[in-house]
Amino acid sequence: MQIHSAIPDLRAALKNKGRVVFVPTMGNLHAGHISLMQQARAHGETVVSSIFVNRLQFGPNEDFDKYPRTFEADCAKLTAAGVDVLFAPTEVDLYPEPQQYQVEPPEIQHQLDGEFRPGHFRGVATVVLKLFNIVQPQAAVFGKKDYQQLMVLRNMTRQLALPIEIIGGETVRADDGLALSSRNGYLSPTERTEAPRLYRLLSRIRQEIRDGNRNFSELERQALVELSDHGWRTDYIAVRQQSDLQLPQPGVQALVALAASRLGATRLIDNIEV
Ligand code: PAJ
Repeated sequence: MQIHSAIPDLRAALKNKGRVVFVPTMGNLHAGHISLMQQARAHGETVVSSIFVNRLQFGPNEDFDKYPRTFEADCAKLTAAGVDVLFAPTEVDLYPEPQQYQVEPPEIQHQLDGEFRPGHFRGVATVVLKLFNIVQPQAAVFGKKDYQQLMVLRNMTRQLALPIEIIGGETVRADDGLALSSRNGYLSPTERTEAPRLYRLLSRIRQEIRDGNRNFSELERQALVELSDHGWRTDYIAVRQQSDLQLPQPGVQALVALAASRLGATRLIDNIEV
């Protein structure tokens, strides 16, 4: 696997490489990330990944400084997954001057996760557009684990007419259902035992909806109570339309149940398509 940190070097390495499929990450890679690499492999000739912990998308009280950085282990996993090129810029490579031009996503950036992480989706959209311009891939893969992120990036790509196919990858879970996440490493052993409750609750909501229950606010309320009874502090638990993450209109069947909740100091997010 080639590794480049400077933009000109990466551009030179990607000349005449056929169909390039890109998988951006912030590192600390787990089986969820690797499944996206495998999906990328199936969609093109050259697989490019990136590792960059993007300061722009972290709030002032979030975990930017303590976000796990495991570069050597990540490189071994990417090599084993057959990734051809890794772009691993330093902060100076990617932000040599203050990033004053940014992508302003629409109202959805202030809802759901955006309500609790002001500026997050602006930071994500900005870095991803910049990475797209550097790598110039024909396709890019993002996980459904971050459902709202996938939707924001898909809509950005379409509205700005970027010639890039956006591919969504299924969420990879531990055996007990907990969605794999770099932040799971922050959980204490007791919290780790409790953590799969989030997935179980979302699964139960899916089952209720499949059985014909459309009283979404009551389903949300029950889940909220159960979480709080077990020591969680919930940011949101919501049933929305898959297409735009707005409140379900009558008759709309393609729904998604999304949640973000804190166990101790760790904020977990998850979702299930219905
Ligand atoms: P990061 O959290 O490192 O995630 C990189 C990609 O892996 C994202 O597309 C995310 O949705 C996906 N992913 C994470 N956990 C997953 C799981 N359990 N199963 C499947 N896919 C999973 O998301 C980011 O980085 C950043 O916001 C980024 C897009 C790189 C911009 O900085």
